[in-house]
Amino acid sequence: MLPVLGALLWSSACGGGSDTASGDTAKKSESTTSTTTTEAPKAMLAATPPMGWNSWNQVRCPDLNEDVVKRAADALVREELDKVGYRYVVVDDCWQAPNRDAAGSLQSDPVRFPSGLDSLAKYVHDKGLKFGLYLAPGSQTCAMFWDAYPASGIGSYGHERQDAEMLQRIGVDYLKYDWCRADETDGLVRVDAFTKMHDELARLDRKIVYSISEYGETAPWTWAPPIANVWRTTGDIAPVWPSVAAIIDSQADLHPYAGPGHWNDPDMLQVGNGTFTPDEARAHIGMWSMLAAPLMIGTDLDRLTPEVLDALSNTEVIAIDQDPLGQQARRVRAGDGEVWARGLKGGDVAVALLNKSDAPLDIQTTLAEVGAAAGTWKVRDVSARADRPSTDSAIGATVPPHGLTILRLSPS
Ligand code: GAL
Repeated sequence: MLPVLGALLWSSACGGGSDTASGDTAKKSESTTSTTTTEAPKAMLAATPPMGWNSWNQVRCPDLNEDVVKRAADALVREELDKVGYRYVVVDDCWQAPNRDAAGSLQSDPVRFPSGLDSLAKYVHDKGLKFGLYLAPGSQTCAMFWDAYPASGIGSYGHERQDAEMLQRIGVDYLKYDWCRADETDGLVRVDAFTKMHDELARLDRKIVYSISEYGETAPWTWAPPIANVWRTTGDIAPVWPSVAAIIDSQADLHPYAGPGHWNDPDMLQVGNGTFTPDEARAHIGMWSMLAAPLMIGTDLDRLTPEVLDALSNTEVIAIDQDPLGQQARRVRAGDGEVWARGLKGGDVAVALLNKSDAPLDIQTTLAEVGAAAGTWKVRDVSARADRPSTDSAIGATVPPHGLTILRLSPS
């Protein structure tokens, strides 16, 4: 008998997906509708989670400059990371000159961006990549607060239309719009402020992926799907395993809210930074893929180790992240040896065995526990890129400390 997926676990919350990784050609307001939409799914903005590079986790604030961004774009192409999906090059906070000009326009810092953002966006686009930029809804950006960035009035408050039109003029494809205590500094209300910029973006001819960030403080997954393509679900990630493990833990109940065009964002990748072992780095990327998270690299791509490059380039893992159904994994067993599962297009099931303990662990699960129907399933270890014997019952692996094994089950 051909196995079928357990309807309870794998019913799609969002209707059909898209075969395109980021067919950025439709109106955003149409990208967040439910099964009743009549729009062709192929036209959806952020139909699958955005992938790319972002400056923040690599250089943070004062070391950001146009050469850093150009080198990242060069490396995405040289390492063929663009070919596996990493296409957005996002300039985070600290690109701005200290003040707006006499007309109220934002300017890039003249010392660190001597060629200007128009030229930088062209450089990125000429490589076949997409260009992203950071703004903030209040009067301040976060770096003005956390990094003592010496600037004034470079938030978009009162300049929303002007700034949205700037994005169009420059040729921006992705906006990161970051809260930065705008309630305290400017008395703003999150849903109103984020909707205001959504409305300004919707007026533009250019289609821009809209990624909002308020650190998951007011459960944005409950109100952001109609206005944003991506919303942060956590505070800032740090380049250490405990941070990654805590974030994974906090995502267990968020699977109902993600789907094509609207994604939970557990923050950007830190692989390549800090103290990760190769197993931890693979687990970080693998779990972000199970979570259908945006995959934004935040490290110096000129200094990637072979292990990190290999993990970032594992097309079988990326295929899970980018699966067109967009069904974020749910945790079916918690503890030291966790089991997560998600349904994939075509009836496959991805099963992740996550070892949170400090010693190797034999993690065993069953078809029933992961929601796969009775029958015989082919098993592919996508982490090791190797086939395993088919199964009609148990599924398992010995997983290294802080490691992850992802098994892809296919009906046989
Ligand atoms: C934080 C945000 C980071 C980064 C930073 C810039 O609030 O979470 O991802 O954008 O601001 O100042």
